[in-house]
Amino acid sequence: MSNDDESRDGNKLWGGRFSEATDAFVERFTASVDFDRRLYRQDIAGSIAHARMLAQVGVLSPEEEAQIAAGLEAIAGEIENDTFQWSVELEDVHMNIEAALTRRIGAVGKKLHTGRSRNDQVATDIRLYVRDEIDAIALLIEQLQLTLLDIAEREAATIMPGFTHLQVAQPISFGHHMMAWFEMLERDYQRFQDCRKRVNLSPLGAAALAGTSFPIDRHYTADLLGFDSPTRNSLDSVSDRDFAIELAACGSLLMTHLSRFSEELVLWTSEQFQFVELPDRFCTGSSIMPQKKNPDVPELVRGKSGRVNGHLVSLLTLMKSQPLAYNKDNQEDKEPLFDVLDTLKDCLFAYAQMMPAVTCRSQVMREAANRGYSTATDLADYLVKRGLPFRDAHEAVGRIVAMAVESGQNLDQLYLEQLTAICPQIETDVYQVLTLEGSLNARDHLGGTAPAQVRAAVTQARDLLASH
Ligand code: ARG
Repeated sequence: MSNDDESRDGNKLWGGRFSEATDAFVERFTASVDFDRRLYRQDIAGSIAHARMLAQVGVLSPEEEAQIAAGLEAIAGEIENDTFQWSVELEDVHMNIEAALTRRIGAVGKKLHTGRSRNDQVATDIRLYVRDEIDAIALLIEQLQLTLLDIAEREAATIMPGFTHLQVAQPISFGHHMMAWFEMLERDYQRFQDCRKRVNLSPLGAAALAGTSFPIDRHYTADLLGFDSPTRNSLDSVSDRDFAIELAACGSLLMTHLSRFSEELVLWTSEQFQFVELPDRFCTGSSIMPQKKNPDVPELVRGKSGRVNGHLVSLLTLMKSQPLAYNKDNQEDKEPLFDVLDTLKDCLFAYAQMMPAVTCRSQVMREAANRGYSTATDLADYLVKRGLPFRDAHEAVGRIVAMAVESGQNLDQLYLEQLTAICPQIETDVYQVLTLEGSLNARDHLGGTAPAQVRAAVTQARDLLASH
């Protein structure tokens, strides 16, 4: 055998046409095993399905198939208990496992790669991996959503200032605020589910790019691997990484949401706001300032949104100039993709653990809602209900607010005579609409902040989660 020839590299599964060994640097530079070995489970599942299909169509004998499957399962066991010898010389997870199979079961192992290529193999592996990760991410999103529903229910009548431009706008229910977070996560959940539809298709059988001359059954392998169906075009099958980009885009948006939650928590835990308190176990101190309790977890989540956005751009850039079909460039898809998935899971896990332990300082929030003339809109609405056109009511209340600012009082501290001096339509019942509770309860319609509406929204959201 030419493999005995010293000038060739006998270790390579593709060594036949080469007359010198691979340059040591090139070997390291082109290898992906250090990061793609995490695909071993998917790779082995894909190979077992492929072998089973080959036996089904008569390309392998049942005995050969049984030997291959047993050998691959034994290899999975070795990898799991960390006794498997990974080798950079064998470049990637696919060739490491295939070479180990042949070492283990002999010549039959060399038949496994009949009618397939690493190009459809790797595309299959990543799709299986991403599919399972989407399911894990979806579960974590739901876990966090449930947590938010519990808080929303508990704090439906807890009053905080609602902001626009980060200026006090109108009083709202803290539970209502949590339900806004819930909605953002619900859209994320739906986006991941939609992405999953395009992930869960089987490229296996596309082979290198054009298909194979063997009588393969692509529906059979797709079924065995739990794919919804095979992909339609062999060239597209081996070159498409849209699903990875979509995944990263869904991830970027999810991280954008978590980053916004984080920004709010960072503000709310500050000395200036003091709206909520994070549990000590989710914070760290300062090495110099003894009094510090820093909201590190939200800050890090906010920071990690940067790397996920970065990976999205990496993947888009990776694909933008590739001619059909497979190119080695594609090997660069894995590190960003894996990091996106790891980061999403960590951040969701952190939030799902942390949120139930967040406590509200309702008195502080209430006082903050009382400052900033947050019920001024209610006063304007009151005047409209007494016949003033809204613009005139707006103008009158603006003058009342200016007077209150001048005298350093809240709206409900102004005497009736002061109010009627500006606007004679005002009567004693005005003080009911100037209260925080009155303001919240008045917004009693679908999507409004009245505690009754928040409780109804929580009930509906629970039904929605149950129907996921
Ligand atoms: N390690 C490769 C990747 O990640 C596997 C496919 C290699 N195919 C090839 N023709 N070199 O994409």
